[in-house]
Amino acid sequence: MDHLLSMKRLGPDGIIRILDRAAELRGGAVPEIGRTHYISNLFFEPSTRTKTSFEMAERRLGLDVIPFEAGFSSTLKGETLYDTVRTLEAIGLDALVIRSPEDRFYKELEGRTSVAIINAGDGSGQHPTQTLLDLFTLREEFGTLEGLKVTIAGDVSHSRVAKSGRDALQMFGADVRILCPPEWQGDFESSEDWEEVLPDSDAVMLLRVQHERHSGEGSFSAHSYHERYGLTAGRAERMKKGAIILHPAPVNRGVEIAGELVEHSRSRIFRQVENGVYVRMAVLETILKGRD
Ligand code: NCD
Repeated sequence: MDHLLSMKRLGPDGIIRILDRAAELRGGAVPEIGRTHYISNLFFEPSTRTKTSFEMAERRLGLDVIPFEAGFSSTLKGETLYDTVRTLEAIGLDALVIRSPEDRFYKELEGRTSVAIINAGDGSGQHPTQTLLDLFTLREEFGTLEGLKVTIAGDVSHSRVAKSGRDALQMFGADVRILCPPEWQGDFESSEDWEEVLPDSDAVMLLRVQHERHSGEGSFSAHSYHERYGLTAGRAERMKKGAIILHPAPVNRGVEIAGELVEHSRSRIFRQVENGVYVRMAVLETILKGRD
């Protein structure tokens, strides 16, 4: 594994290898990183969890983390992503974790740099490490992914989490259902009726409305959205025994999910965040060992 770009490219064997290694690391295994590796996190979109989680994973692996502040970088002077990456390669970086508002930003880099690229979210494209931590959390809960019924609810057409999640869950024979307003269904088949999907779902994954990716759409009422498409407290009571709530966060309480559900006994939202560190350690260790 040279890079991590999308779930389809990682494939089922690659996914299982990462999940198994993340489980070992979570269980206390000692990371195996040989020589010093230099890594930097290039975030051209806001991030709390993903960026800090990568930084924690990098430090736990003993990597040398070189600071990069997108808001103070030469990209503000018109430098392209390609020229930025080639510059960091020339300085001696081994790997770059990149988040970009551009779908498939990595296309302009492929085959043109020897630095390892880890996709930390590309526009409305993919979010591979989020999906790996979602799969890890589901497997930890249910022991398997096969046959799981997972409802993804919200702004799916603009969500990279929904797309990489669907791609990966389907590889493992999970039954993915989508609940969303018809104007946000994109190429997903969707339902607007919670009763069609809720009663037998093993997991419900809520998504934040991606206002920053909407262009010139009409007014949005958080209250009406919550009533129609959100996971309300009443709906959570009708979930089946043992079913769990997932959310990649940031959470907008009272919009896609009732505030009181964030720390409900069904919620695994903070467990997802915890698991993310181990999954990212496994990804970075695998990629960097391959370069030694
Ligand atoms: C998501 C993202 O940035 O794609 N969050 C995350 O990385 N944990 C989801 C979102 O922004 O709503």
